[in-house]
Amino acid sequence: MCKSIMTARWAAEVRAAVDYDLRDVISMWKRNIKAVNTAYDIATLYRYFKKYFFVATYTDTNSAIIGFVAGAVRDSHGHISGIAVDEAYRRVGVGKQLLKAADAKFLGDGFDRVTLEVRVSNIAAIRFYEDQGYRSLYTVKGYYADGEDAIVYEKGL
Ligand SMILES: CC(C)(COP(=O)(O)OP(=O)(O)OC[C@H]1O[C@@H](n2cnc3c(N)ncnc32)[C@H](O)[C@@H]1OP(=O)(O)O)[C@@H](O)C(=O)NCCC(=O)NCCS
Repeated sequence: MCKSIMTARWAAEVRAAVDYDLRDVISMWKRNIKAVNTAYDIATLYRYFKKYFFVATYTDTNSAIIGFVAGAVRDSHGHISGIAVDEAYRRVGVGKQLLKAADAKFLGDGFDRVTLEVRVSNIAAIRFYEDQGYRSLYTVKGYYADGEDAIVYEKGL
């Protein structure tokens, strides 16, 4: 799967992740997502669920990765374990395209819903997920290692 987004300044492409991308995904995850996931945790997720990992690349210079989504399967439904877009490339539809790619793969594999957790303080991500059709289900007190609560979101496919 390969989708392009073009603006006056640059062009981005979303494609399935390959093993070569893992190092960049780990680095982006750690830079952009407030979490305690280690490189080993992320690599383990990738090993089990690589077909649900997608990356966005910047086509103008060396096809550098500017975003990723890490999908997984949890309790017989799709799950978004992580998503991030480099700050310089936000608000031009890259995150939306990444989420669409993961959704299409989940749907193709017969899953009818996707869930995710988000920090109550992560207003940008909450707005983003709600814009993509996710609806909040409930709050989990102290879900994160630092004690912050999570909101569980769900979307039907
Ligand atoms: C959340 C994130 C992935 C969104 O990526 P993005 O590429 O900027 O999102 P898009 O451009 O596809 O946004 C689509 C829509 O979502 C909503 N949205 C996205 N970011 C938003 C923000 N900061 N504030 C309000 N609404 C926002 C808007 O409706 C937007 O459409 P618009 O730009 O036409 O108004 C990005 O902000 C990010 O990487 N955040 C840091 C990592 C993170 O918190 N990840 C989630 C937790 S795992």
